Amino acid sequence: MAESGATLSNLSTESRVFPPSEEFAAQANATAELYDRADADREAFWAEQADRLSWSKKWDKVLEWDAPFAKWFVGGQLNVAYNCVDRHVEAGNGDRVALNWEGEPGDSRTITYADLQREVSKAANALTGLGVGKGDRVAIQLPMIPEAAIAMLACARIGAMHSVVFGGFSPGALKARIEDAECKLLITSDGQYRRGKPAPMKENTDEAVAGTTIEHVLVVKRTETDVPWTEGRDLWWHDTVETASDQHTPEGFDSEHPLFILYTSGTTGKPKGILHTSGGYLTQSAYTHHVAFDHKPGESVYWCTADIGWVTGHTYIVYGPLANGATSVMYEGTPNTPHEGRHWEIVQKYGVSIYYTAPTLIRTFMKWGDDIPAKFDLSSLKVLGTVGEPINPEAWMWYRKNIGGDRCPIVDTWWQTETGSTMIAPLPGVTPTKPGSAMRPLPGISATIVDESGTPVGNGEGGYLVLDKPWPSMLRGIWGDEERYRETYWSKFAEQGYYFAGDGAKYDEDGAIWLLGRVDDVMNVSGHRISTTEVESALVSHPTVAEAAVVGASDEMTGQGIVAFVILRGSAAKDGGDDAIKALRDHVSKEIGPIAKPRQIMVVEELPKTRSGKIMRRLLRDVAENRAVGDVSTLADSSVMEMISSGMQEGKED
Ligand code: WTA
Repeated sequence: MAESGATLSNLSTESRVFPPSEEFAAQANATAELYDRADADREAFWAEQADRLSWSKKWDKVLEWDAPFAKWFVGGQLNVAYNCVDRHVEAGNGDRVALNWEGEPGDSRTITYADLQREVSKAANALTGLGVGKGDRVAIQLPMIPEAAIAMLACARIGAMHSVVFGGFSPGALKARIEDAECKLLITSDGQYRRGKPAPMKENTDEAVAGTTIEHVLVVKRTETDVPWTEGRDLWWHDTVETASDQHTPEGFDSEHPLFILYTSGTTGKPKGILHTSGGYLTQSAYTHHVAFDHKPGESVYWCTADIGWVTGHTYIVYGPLANGATSVMYEGTPNTPHEGRHWEIVQKYGVSIYYTAPTLIRTFMKWGDDIPAKFDLSSLKVLGTVGEPINPEAWMWYRKNIGGDRCPIVDTWWQTETGSTMIAPLPGVTPTKPGSAMRPLPGISATIVDESGTPVGNGEGGYLVLDKPWPSMLRGIWGDEERYRETYWSKFAEQGYYFAGDGAKYDEDGAIWLLGRVDDVMNVSGHRISTTEVESALVSHPTVAEAAVVGASDEMTGQGIVAFVILRGSAAKDGGDDAIKALRDHVSKEIGPIAKPRQIMVVEELPKTRSGKIMRRLLRDVAENRAVGDVSTLADSSVMEMISSGMQEGKED
């Protein structure tokens, strides 16, 4: 174990390893040679990846790096929507399904690439008709319906930037984003289905739009909900887009032409408008989708369960898969509407072969029970992916066995809104995987773990995860705030010129990378810097625990003491008594050492999560330290904190 002063202690060890099967390896898109080729000549490697795309003008230079500002494929021109749609039609694949869309109430739509070309062209013509042009910003707040993807592609097609705002965000959050980017148009819907019922949408967006730069509101009819209407400003999608011409010639834009802004909330302050551009972003999105998921156009059926309002939805529902001519599933609703097997029913219905989801959902499936996926035929699955949080080894094992039939490689993909697409992940046909590890940077990507002084740590040691070389899909800045861009990402290791991602990580004895959570959440117990992830994973490895969140609360003796919040699995939930708690504390002590033994464990029904499923430990810290709970505006369910706080009062000390 690391001594005090170490950057981050390395507490857990994992000895299970799962190499790809011979059959899988034999047919895989990526082979081990890719790493060598990328190492030998990074720029040549990325130039080769850029050739996945159709450029209307070839670039002159692969990379111009004036830190911290990168330009990729300099001088090149392309149209992103043409790459995602038209070129597949021109290649004779117009009849291939692009989107198998499944509505929450059970309705469905099948959209081929030829359909998509017509829909995107109509929307592009309609947007142009509304005065939206190159460089203008368009806000989009829509449910998970095909129009969301169509609207994004229409913006890309005419060189306008989209700013997609998650459908569950409040009018205030939408307004702040509209104002920051000075959006001209808002695309929204009358309502959205949530857990089987229509909920209003336009009513809220009207509140957001008032007094902003928005000139028109384009409204998709989804739920037949009555809506307030402002004549002259508001337009129905079916009147405006459906009646527009389905012929549109895409123009090539500069490789560095802005494609979108996506706001990420971060821990403090106003949301940051993360800016992405065209050529590099699309190159890395298409490349990573191809190699990390082993996607086979015309063969694979691919499903990313993220919401389109998050970066995962941008990169791995829209841009990456469509650039690769993928056939995707897109699902509108929640995973337990109308029953807890909905995802598996959809996998069975469409013969999904690649399934990509978040650890938070996997832990929820675990809580619901093994018998639910067991009722469905999941034999079409070939590759499973995860993203968004570190995946606890036990959740990984559960996923492998109960969803992947002990047969599918699991790719744990580490990346961020800021990185644009996947950076660290195994290659499914190459890398023997370890449950809970993202393994190593993809070919062409460079990442290191360093200590406080910026010096790389050795195997078996933890520290800060940094990206030490520019990559094609990197953010190009924070919208309108260059200083904040430098300060947020490039100041901690300014001397070395490293991008610091905010995450802690470690190398295990074999040099595999393990993500250890946000460094802001690291706990300091008697001078040992302990990651939340390792203690949480130790808790989740106990058969009674479905989910766990730990925080450091100030402690007179040890600096900080570990306070854990756990959700028990279905059958164990009734017995959360003192014996059960003691068993859990002892279990952590046995798994990773007495230093990590929680001072206190609270059994809770729910954990505070952001709407994208990340645990908000900051709020739990407030509870653990008996403070008033801070800003809860980004919580998915704001009542959760009241429940936890009142439980804390009752259940003091174990
Ligand atoms: C976390 C989501 C561990 C991490 C694409 C990162 C992960 C933040 C993983 C970005 C992973 C994402 N293992 N942690 N595989 N993937 N994270 O911007 O803390 O919503 O910095 O992008 O999620 O979240 P964002």
